[in-house]
Amino acid sequence: MMPLQVLIDVDTGVDDALALAFAVLHPAINLRAVTCVAGNASLDDVYRNTRAVLAVAGAATVPVARGASRPLIAAPRDAAHVHGRNGLAGLELDVPEERASDVHAVELMRQQILASPTPPVLIALAPLTNVALLIRMYPEVAARLERIVFMGGSASVGNATPVAEFNTWADPEAAAIVVESGIPTMMYGLDVFYSAAVSADDVAALESSSRPVAQLCAKLFRHLAVKDAGQKRIPAGTIAALGDAGTVCSVVDPEGLTTRRFPVSVCTDGSRSRGQTIVDRRSHRGESELNGASLGQPVDVALQVDAGRYAELYRRTILGTLES
Ligand code: BDR
Ligand code: CA
Repeated sequence: MMPLQVLIDVDTGVDDALALAFAVLHPAINLRAVTCVAGNASLDDVYRNTRAVLAVAGAATVPVARGASRPLIAAPRDAAHVHGRNGLAGLELDVPEERASDVHAVELMRQQILASPTPPVLIALAPLTNVALLIRMYPEVAARLERIVFMGGSASVGNATPVAEFNTWADPEAAAIVVESGIPTMMYGLDVFYSAAVSADDVAALESSSRPVAQLCAKLFRHLAVKDAGQKRIPAGTIAALGDAGTVCSVVDPEGLTTRRFPVSVCTDGSRSRGQTIVDRRSHRGESELNGASLGQPVDVALQVDAGRYAELYRRTILGTLES
């Protein structure tokens, strides 16, 4: 069976790094390119971290391009409190010498979409600035995507604010452009983001592997375990969320995820609700719609995840034991 043609947009980031390692190593994915955007860390840190992690995973030749260094409208904000000052838990990894790509991220996305033998899946694990720019600059090319799968938003509570998730809060206008684009879209939000998580045994198995990429993932999970310790967000018996990596797991194993299609819109006004993804779960139209308000575009919203299934999928993929 032909592997899925995949583009990934990242703000590497500890969990973005875990996601990249999985995408490189899973046989069902052909990782065509990785694009970088400011978010968890500065664009320079994201670009450096991304190239270093791909090299450890054995994918130093995958094209990597730099994109937006700040959101479309919102003021730049980072998540250094989660990911560390350099965006990668303070780990200092070697970065490949050769340049990865001389074009802007949006141009690399455009090139790779046009060159792909089948419509690619664009997995976005960061603020959606690059993806929004692609949609605005090359709508006819963006329309050739099979779908956009983005880690972001929430049908329930937020993390960056009481109601908004970090990626949609960091660039609400970009998120609005994406969910309103009409491109088939799946939202892997906070309703599942922390539910898929690894256990101490999973991390110990990675740690005892001779594979450098497995040892790197173990270090990254150990970093997240400190952040997740004591939080009620991850399931009992686990120590660290898969986070962004769960998004990529759901692309290769959609059976592990429960989604439902709802109208989704993004709040770009109002100070306290800015960045909130408004998931309309009503079964009827309300007075606002009857008076002309838009319902929002239909988006497949992830509501539940088989946490143990993705933890095992992740561990086996990184250890190279999928077939055993
Ligand atoms: C998102 O925020 C970032 O810190 C993570 O990398 C993830 O993409 C979760 O809200
Ligand atoms: Ca991310």
